[in-house]
Amino acid sequence: MAKLPLLAFMALCCTFASVLLVNAMEISVEGRVYCDTCRAGFVTNVTEYIPGAKVRLECIHYKGGDSQVENQVDSDEIEFTIDGVTDNTGKYYFKAQDGHEKDTCYVVLVESPRPDCKEIIPGRDRARFLLSSDAGMPGNKRFPNDLGYLKDKPLDICGSIMKQYNTEEDY
Ligand SMILES: *[C@@H]1O[C@H](CO)[C@@H](O)[C@H](O)[C@H]1NC(C)=O
Repeated sequence: MAKLPLLAFMALCCTFASVLLVNAMEISVEGRVYCDTCRAGFVTNVTEYIPGAKVRLECIHYKGGDSQVENQVDSDEIEFTIDGVTDNTGKYYFKAQDGHEKDTCYVVLVESPRPDCKEIIPGRDRARFLLSSDAGMPGNKRFPNDLGYLKDKPLDICGSIMKQYNTEEDY
């Protein structure tokens, strides 16, 4: 007879534990920062990844939800930001808490450690992603698009690489 309340207690406590786990789910966000060494506008076989690049994760809480006001960051609130640096393979990793369903999050370039590769590529200096699993994102990993800088001068080999890409496009 003593077993039943015990089981009930265990079931109750496990339910609470799993609810807590789900609420506190940690989302990992990872991606890379590259140097477009051919100034190609796309990744080539000589694209390099940049260790030590400063990046930031920022989540913005949009007021309203009208898409017309979505880009008026001024009237909205930055919910939180996290600063990060890429590792020696050019990868960054962030850990953030799930539960910001209404937020729009970005990873943004902050600073390049390479004087020869610090030119911003419009559209490649930030990548938008959905953080919350409530927004329909399954799992606890997010992979925003890679972020990239342009190299000041293309590598010597780029001429022949670009020629090859152009030839491939002809077919
Ligand atoms: C990249 O591609 C070019 C052209 O196909 C080739 O000559 C070169 O060896 C390749 N470089 C690397 C690092 O793979």
